[in-house]
Amino acid sequence: MSDFAEIILEGKSYKMPIVVGTENEKAIDINNLRAESGYITLDSGYKNTGATESAITFLDGEEGILRYRGYPIEQLAEKSSFIEVAYLLIYGALPTQQELDVFTNEIKIHTLVNEDMRKILDGFPSTAHPMGILSALISSLTAFYPESLNPNQSKDEVNLTIIRLMAKLPTIAAWSYKNSIGHPVNYPKNKLDYCSNFLHMMFAYPTEEYELNPVVVSALNKLLILHADHEQNCSTSTVRLVGSANASLYSSVSAGISALWGPLHGGANQAVIEMLEAIKADGGDSKKFIAKAKDKDDPFRLMGFGHRVYKNFDPRATIIKKAADEVLTALGVNDPILDIAKELEEAALTDQYFVDRKLYPNVDFYSGIIYRALGIPTDMFTVMFALGRLPGWIAQWKEMREQKEPIGRPRQVYTGDTERNYVPMNER
Ligand code: CMC
Repeated sequence: MSDFAEIILEGKSYKMPIVVGTENEKAIDINNLRAESGYITLDSGYKNTGATESAITFLDGEEGILRYRGYPIEQLAEKSSFIEVAYLLIYGALPTQQELDVFTNEIKIHTLVNEDMRKILDGFPSTAHPMGILSALISSLTAFYPESLNPNQSKDEVNLTIIRLMAKLPTIAAWSYKNSIGHPVNYPKNKLDYCSNFLHMMFAYPTEEYELNPVVVSALNKLLILHADHEQNCSTSTVRLVGSANASLYSSVSAGISALWGPLHGGANQAVIEMLEAIKADGGDSKKFIAKAKDKDDPFRLMGFGHRVYKNFDPRATIIKKAADEVLTALGVNDPILDIAKELEEAALTDQYFVDRKLYPNVDFYSGIIYRALGIPTDMFTVMFALGRLPGWIAQWKEMREQKEPIGRPRQVYTGDTERNYVPMNER
């Protein structure tokens, strides 16, 4: 294989180096293209553009492979815990027992958030979407830890921000829910593990103990692991881009939360349930909605279907579909939405439109059904995604900083008016 690509522009040849990743992924390095030729590349939606070299997550969309730091997602979902996966993503290796204990305990002692945050929370109306609250409150952490704004912090100082974020996001997330239902917030219980503590903060009432169900705790662990990273997706690229301007980790993650909120990205899990509910309310005719999704004059899309990179199957969806069956059976939940989801999936998978476009169920198609069975309200689904994605955002931000990446700043091809003179108001 040649170690360069030749680009011929206006009869002149330019040689661009080829970069090959450890999984044999190939790229043309065009770092010097504009300086040498005056040309840029145009790639809307960055469908063919690698924004970075990264050693965190490997994803092969054609083969349906997803690995964190080399470990297959199937093995991690089966055998690991969310906190261990978070350590793996952030620090690059599976922890020893001692490393895991230290990480876990450091997180536990930072789970409280400053009481003044409650005043900010109180200012939100109960109609506020929890994702908006989450993004705002995570950004507000910079006010309580202003030293985090210093881009030249030491490794230990940055690590403290990482620990604080891992510790406080579940507290803030649960509080955003409590706020939405007008209930008093619950304080963290540090004797509990990460997932159990989150469930306690979400569901405990001041008057009674919340009884943890091991099926629920284990399902939550699995869901968070499956969402923990997904290389350069929309929210992660946002986190890296914002961080590349030397913004703090808190502000970068806050921006990532806003990106995740969109229904084409993390917001799809909420949109899937709303869609399944709408199909049920309409009489349950999935074929009618398949037809709507295919109709180019109809804005309706089959939420939870299709993916920018998976063109065969989403390995996370395979694991989640099985987990949904297990969790619903274990909890004795009979959700008619699951039947509609299965019908819809079967109909879409055999329909030529979906086959031709390689549209398969993605991670969000079944995750909402499990969240619902766990008692999580629909508008908290995307918050759950954020909780899971947090270690990935942190790992990617940290890698971007450690690799000393330049500020992200795409170019454009200008298509507006050429220079023209200002016209006074009375002459327009
Ligand atoms: N329903 C109907 N048609 C679809 C769908 C869908 N869900 N997704 C894609 N298509 C069609 C699209 O209309 C286009 O058709 P044509 O070639 O005739 O114009 C073709 O498939 C390619 O779609 P695209 O929009 O160019 O693909 P993309 O890579 O830009 O978008 C996507 C990927 C995930 C945004 C899109 O598939 C979608 O909107 N899916 C529904 C939302 C969803 O489930 N998002 C969650 C993604 S998984 C969680 C995460 O990691 O973010």
